[in-house]
Amino acid sequence: MNNFTYFNPVKVVFGKGTINQLAELVPAGRKILVTYGGGSIKQNGVYDQVKNALKGRDWVEFGGIEPNPRYETLMKSVALCREEGIGFLLSVGGGSVLDGTKFIALAVNYAQGDPWDILAKQAPAELALPLGCVLTLPATGSEMNCFSVISRDSTQEKLAFSNPAVFPRFSILDPETTISLPVRQTMNGIADAFAHVMEQYMTFPCEAPLQDRQAEAILSTLIEYGPQVLQQPGNYQFRSNIMWAATQALNGIISCGVPQDWTTHMIGHELTAFYGLDHAQTLVVVMPAVWKHQKARKALKLSQYAERIWGTKGSDSAGQAIEKTEQFFRSLGMKTRLSEYGITAERFEQIGQRFASRGLKLGEHEAIGKTEVIEILDLCR
Ligand code: NZQ
Ligand code: ZN
Repeated sequence: MNNFTYFNPVKVVFGKGTINQLAELVPAGRKILVTYGGGSIKQNGVYDQVKNALKGRDWVEFGGIEPNPRYETLMKSVALCREEGIGFLLSVGGGSVLDGTKFIALAVNYAQGDPWDILAKQAPAELALPLGCVLTLPATGSEMNCFSVISRDSTQEKLAFSNPAVFPRFSILDPETTISLPVRQTMNGIADAFAHVMEQYMTFPCEAPLQDRQAEAILSTLIEYGPQVLQQPGNYQFRSNIMWAATQALNGIISCGVPQDWTTHMIGHELTAFYGLDHAQTLVVVMPAVWKHQKARKALKLSQYAERIWGTKGSDSAGQAIEKTEQFFRSLGMKTRLSEYGITAERFEQIGQRFASRGLKLGEHEAIGKTEVIEILDLCR
């Protein structure tokens, strides 16, 4: 296990009917901006719950934050914050709304030029408006981390930043709000959380037995309750188990002291940027291909995963682990090949070149450059 510092200031309020606690959680005396997406919160009753909880408070709203939140849209919200003298941001929706709100929080006070530099140049930004969230889609873990992923239409880019100034002050997780999720988003959430665990687990052994077991516990929960929640979407307990597993998958705890990969996510972001696939849809295609390409390097952890999660041993348990994982995603109803989305190889070179021009080498061994990215994409076809 390597040295690490773990810090997570997020107050999580979990359970049925918890949105009314907003009244105490949102600091008094500040004008609030409620951010949301395309309107799902107005159909599923969450908006009305937020409105009731904020009775008597001074607030305005900004809707229209897209899935894969766009810089172009978010900058309109930044202007609104400056005009209205907003002092607190409340994100109500899924990970896209929350990531967009984290970007707004930093961009409002960013005085060093174009806030896109926070993403494109990883420019430092300390001053952030305080923010909180009501989460309605378990997937990203954004509710308990300081990461954010933002897209820019004009350059077809999808980039990430992390900044401790944008940890939510609080996150309200009421599983009941997720019952209205369509099948596609329920599947996406399970797959995204699964991939988050794997980015922090499927590397090489490093004497971290507890982190391994914690990661395996999240995987087992997703494998057990993923199919069940799809069969019984209205089941509150199933929704609760999935919601808490998704938060645990990317709140930093299982990454303590261990190597991390993130190749799947980095390549996945480019597929979303170029082809508009949902984030999780890209991961389900790319992850097995990364494991096939890196099988020798990942063999020990693939075998451990095969044995502990799928109960398989033997000479090619690593290969079986990959097979089982792909079967699991297909059992959820997800596609696992680019060809199923009608995507061929015509932009593989361009995607590979993006990593070369950013000087990026991916993976826990930093061994995945342009050539390897293209080889991995070939394995996704
Ligand atoms: O537009 P709205 O009305 O919000 O509807 C959304 C959207 O259409 C809908 N939805 C959300 N909650 C619902 C609901 N529909 C019915 N009932 C509900 N309760 O679902 C659609 C997708 O929402 P979105 O927020 O885009 O999904 P998700 O939460 O999966 O977020 C995906 C984004 O998170 C980023 C991804 O790149 C992507 O941009 N990620 C963020 C991470 C982080 N901050 O740590 C890490 C992840 O790896 C990921 O990259
Ligand atoms: Zn993800």
